[in-house]
Amino acid sequence: MSVKPLRECGPAARIAVIAGDGIGKEVTPESVKAIRSAITSARRQIEFVEFDWGADKFLREGVSLPAGAVEMLANEFDAILFGALGDPRVPSNQHAADILLGLRFKLDLFVNARPVELFHDRLTPLRDRSANDIRFMVFRENSEGLYVGVGGFFKKDTPDEIAVQEDVNSRKGVERIIRHAFDYARRNQLKRVCMSDKSNAMNFAHDLWQRVFKQVLQEYPEIESRHLYIDTLAMEVVRDPRQFDVIVTCNLFGDIISDLGAQLAGGLGLAPSGNIHPGRTSLFEPVHGSAPNIAGKGIANPLGSILTSGMMLDFLGWKSEGDALRNAVRSALQENFVTPDLGGDKGTVEVGDWIAERVADR
Ligand code: NAD
Ligand code: IPM
Ligand code: MN
Repeated sequence: MSVKPLRECGPAARIAVIAGDGIGKEVTPESVKAIRSAITSARRQIEFVEFDWGADKFLREGVSLPAGAVEMLANEFDAILFGALGDPRVPSNQHAADILLGLRFKLDLFVNARPVELFHDRLTPLRDRSANDIRFMVFRENSEGLYVGVGGFFKKDTPDEIAVQEDVNSRKGVERIIRHAFDYARRNQLKRVCMSDKSNAMNFAHDLWQRVFKQVLQEYPEIESRHLYIDTLAMEVVRDPRQFDVIVTCNLFGDIISDLGAQLAGGLGLAPSGNIHPGRTSLFEPVHGSAPNIAGKGIANPLGSILTSGMMLDFLGWKSEGDALRNAVRSALQENFVTPDLGGDKGTVEVGDWIAERVADR
């Protein structure tokens, strides 16, 4: 899936690396290896700076997102390569909320771009579907909605307890993600944009989505605009994924529909994403989490992270290097040189080494 450069950083880039927890620590180094291998031309230079933010540091020092981190990342780095956060020793998930949601909100990364692309026909659980049938982009609103953490408890820990979680939707926030989806479709000659909400039940928040969508779509007459309620979208994406080029939806629904999409294209081990503010320092992470059930076993699939790095290189304007990563992933899938989640018997590092070699040999 082509992504036009959103930040032309020129010949040199500085990347902050936050591997995080669990398999984030296993897959991210493989991604760094693949990128280094892709940067062969003397015209390009890349510097990686690692940050040990995650559960270990949080448990040891009580620090999640260090003071000054946001300004430092915004001012000194072009992009952030992120692994995953989440650790059974932190049941509140507080450090993940501070670091991951903190960076999404404080860097104002309002676009969560989650492409769904089937790289090899055998990977989809859908019958008689091939690569041409499963190729769409999910744009998830990433700066507000149910994720803002506005709410509270009343009469906590009593039988009368009440918990409130507010869904915050601003006209500006809704408009900029919908507009981004249309602009992306226009730039990439894609014909169809589908906005999905639950306006039949959420009569304030998603009424706003309806009104803004109807207003913005008028500026894109060449694009076929469509609306589906989120429950119907979930059904239609499985029934006939060919219908979709671009899907745009709110924060929570985008989280869910992107895992569904990931599974249509081979599973979470293969799904990339970018948390983007066009023109600003942006954060790239695989869609999957820290997978505590397989962490430490050396079997996590690094390809989702490597495809994520491909998106990051595209974002930097380094398209041919991004293509090199995608082509190597395609070859690994074709030759079945893959981890157990995809039916193979290879380890994380073995796959990472194979990709780095393939990229270098191109
Ligand atoms: P998960 O994505 O970590 O795992 C879901 C399932 O997919 C597991 O069976 C796991 O083994 C498998 N899986 C995921 N990535 C894989 C890979 N690369 N290779 C092979 N198998 C893979 O989701 P979860 O279990 O719901 O969450 C675990 C933790 O991760 C939680 O703390 C959650 O909050 C966190 N999480 C973080 C992020 C993030 O940092 N962006 C995203 C999702 C979940
Ligand atoms: C994701 C994750 C996060 C989210 C969690 C860890 C808060 O599931 O990036 O998809 O819901 O955004
Ligand atoms: Mn998710």
